Order: sequence, then structure tokens, then C-alpha cells
Amino acid sequence: MNVVSSKNIVHIIRRALNCVDPRLIGHGERVAFLLYEMLRVQGGHSEQELGDLTLLGLLHDIGAYKTEDIDRMVEFESQNIWEHSVYGYLFLKNLSPLSSYADVILYHHLPYYQYSLASGTLTRGHYGGLVHLADRADLLLENRDEAFCEQYLQKHRGHLFAPEWVDLFLQTNAQRSIAKRIYDGSYFQEFERVAQSVSFSRKEKLEFLTMIAYSIDFRSEFMVLHTVTTVSVSRVLASLMGMNGEEREKIYYAALLHDVGKVSTPVAILEKPGRLTTEEMAVMQRHVVDTGHILGDYLDSDVKRIAVRHHEKLDGSGYPLGLTGGQLSKSDRIVAVADILSALIRKRSYKEAFDKETTLSILTHMRDEKKICPQVTEIVLQNYDEILETAEAFGREVVEMYQGLQLDYRRILSALPPTLREQDPALSFRG
Ligand SMILES: [Fe+2]
Ligand SMILES: [Fe+2]
Ligand SMILES: [Fe+2]
Repeated sequence: MNVVSSKNIVHIIRRALNCVDPRLIGHGERVAFLLYEMLRVQGGHSEQELGDLTLLGLLHDIGAYKTEDIDRMVEFESQNIWEHSVYGYLFLKNLSPLSSYADVILYHHLPYYQYSLASGTLTRGHYGGLVHLADRADLLLENRDEAFCEQYLQKHRGHLFAPEWVDLFLQTNAQRSIAKRIYDGSYFQEFERVAQSVSFSRKEKLEFLTMIAYSIDFRSEFMVLHTVTTVSVSRVLASLMGMNGEEREKIYYAALLHDVGKVSTPVAILEKPGRLTTEEMAVMQRHVVDTGHILGDYLDSDVKRIAVRHHEKLDGSGYPLGLTGGQLSKSDRIVAVADILSALIRKRSYKEAFDKETTLSILTHMRDEKKICPQVTEIVLQNYDEILETAEAFGREVVEMYQGLQLDYRRILSALPPTLREQDPALSFRG
């Protein structure tokens, strides 16, 4: 069974990134387009390399899931550009099939005059300079115009940007009218064409989706284990309930992707220690609609259906649609219970992790109130220890990865030469 095609993986990533902040909509795909066109004009790249680097352009700001970072990025400031660069680098390196290109993300804000400071660690990082230029060019085109963009790049040729990258941009614009195509929107067809040509193995596709899901969870300490727990509980429940191989696979993908819409939920809401206000609750609940939007028609329709129904309840009191028991399949019910169980057994910003007794009594209560499926609940009651053990085993790996990532993050930030870390007025630019 092919749950999702390579081309559609690119679209799911694109939509997830576009949900981060309205100010960044389209930024990743435009940077990807600019890179692709420049690399084509430069020549000498294999199709594989062109596809990889274009995807890297799309992903270059993946470390910026924290909205506080986006304010700084959009303002063109150099201060703390390292935070999202380092996170993006770590996500790519640890979680994606593009790990050999991770340096490009680390150095995607490194100005040319500081290349030498990073030279010891640069491997493929020279493409970081090209991503840097494409990134700035997109913001300049967006905030000013084509003439200003070209003048700015010329002015900083050999200072902020390597001379060869500036020349390549100007040459590409002259030959392929890249600025014009950004303005009239036709760049998107080219982006889609490139997306069409990439090809990933099944394993690589799963790696990309896992990277998106985990990097969203990793925004908040309280969410780190949520997806992995929901996935592992869903898996155990699905096999205990005798679902066939195809159904189990769909459940797996749906559990992995069920909360991707949380990419647009502010961290302040995810981490609020107390009860959410009505408004905050509405913002929180929007994540399901966003999950539906991100997944679009890009993957198996059952997977999407299961994912967007994880907050529905049998008695119609759930959201977003208020569906009732007759409308909810066994798979929908499994992931819904797994999601609840994951929230109960883990610590959250508003609660401690519940012990077995409390967890089971809450589930029993929900079952008696006709909110969750009695059969699925029964399986949980009978197999609680086994379910929890599996969840713990999978959880440990992810906790280790998260802790390793945090350590690497601090290590890399503090190892950066101080001159790279401090704000350089030459880099700041406002309207
Ligand atoms: Fe960036
Ligand atoms: Fe960017
Ligand atoms: Fe959710």
C-alpha cells in the first residue's frame, strides 16, 4: 500500500511550514524555487542533487517553529538567527534523509565575510551562502522591488554575499526572469514540477513525516512524547483488536500525523499551566482543522480521516464536527482512545502524569458517559501494562533523542565563535 507519494510528501512539508506564521507563507517554496533556478543556470548538478537542494530550500527555516524566532527573522535581524539555524540543522541531521546537507541549514545566515570563521566546520556549508542569498532575495523582493533587490545584492557583493553567488543570481534573473515569476506567481508551477520529479523510498518518506511530527512536538517540553506515545499505543491497540496489516499501517500514519496542525498553536497555549480560556480553547481546537488542511488530498483518504477525527466523541460532544458513534470507524476510535491515553499517562503543562488507577478510572468514566468506544476501552483495561510498557520503550528513544538534541543545541551555540554570535549592524535591515 502506498500511503503517500514522494511528490505529496513535499506538499505536506510545504503546507506544514506555511502554517507556522502568516508572514512566512510561501517563503520556503520561493527560496526553493530561487535555489533551483540558480543551480540550473550554474550547471553541473545531477537531478538528485538538484532535487535535494531544492527541498533543502523549502526546509531551510524548519528550526523556526517557535514564533518568537519568526519575529526576529522577518525583521531581518542577525541577532539570534542562530537559534533556528541550529535547531534546523539538528532536525535535518538527526531526523531526515538529508542529514549530509545539514550544514547548509546551520550556515544559512552566515555572511560571506565570516565564512573563514566557520571554515573548519564547513563541509557542504558553502551552499549555506547560496541559501542565505536566496533567503534575503525573497524578503527583498517581497518588501521592496526587483531593482532594490539587485542593488542591495550588488552593494553587498563580496561582503554579505560571495561574489559568485551574487553574479549567479543576477545572471539567473537575466536569463530566467526569476523575480518576475515570483511576482506573477508562476514560480509555483516550477516548484510543483520539481516536487514531481523527486523520489523517496518508503523509509525516507516515513523519515520526513516523522521529522515534521517530532519537530512540532519538540517545540514544547510537555509535548515531546505525545506523538510517539499516541503512535505506539495505537499500534498495540490495533493489533490487539485484530486489525489487518493495511488497517494497522493506516492507523500508524494517522497517529503519527494527527497533531501536525499544532504547528500553528502558540507555545504559550501549549504550555499554559492552568485552564484555557474560551478563546484559548478555540485556538487550541483549531489544530484539528489545520491538520486536515496540511494533509489536504496528499495522502490516503482513510489516514486523513482517522487523523482529523481524533477528538470526536461517540456522543457527538467532540470536535471539530461533532460526529457520533455510527459515523466513527474502529480505526477512528482506536486513535481517539490512544490520544487520550497518551495525554493521561504523560505530564502536561496543566497536570502531572496520572498513575494506572487514575488513568483507568478516567477512561472507564468516559466510556460510561458514552464518549469513547467500549470495546477499545475494554482492550486498554485488560492490557494496560503491556500497552504502557511498549509506550515506555518507544518513548525512551525519543526522550534520549530530545535530550541529545538539547545538549547539541547548547554545545553548538556556545562553540560558535563569539563574533558570529553577536549582532552585526551591517546585517540588520528594516524596510
Ligand atoms: Fe532562516
Ligand atoms: Fe528564511
Ligand atoms: Fe489533538
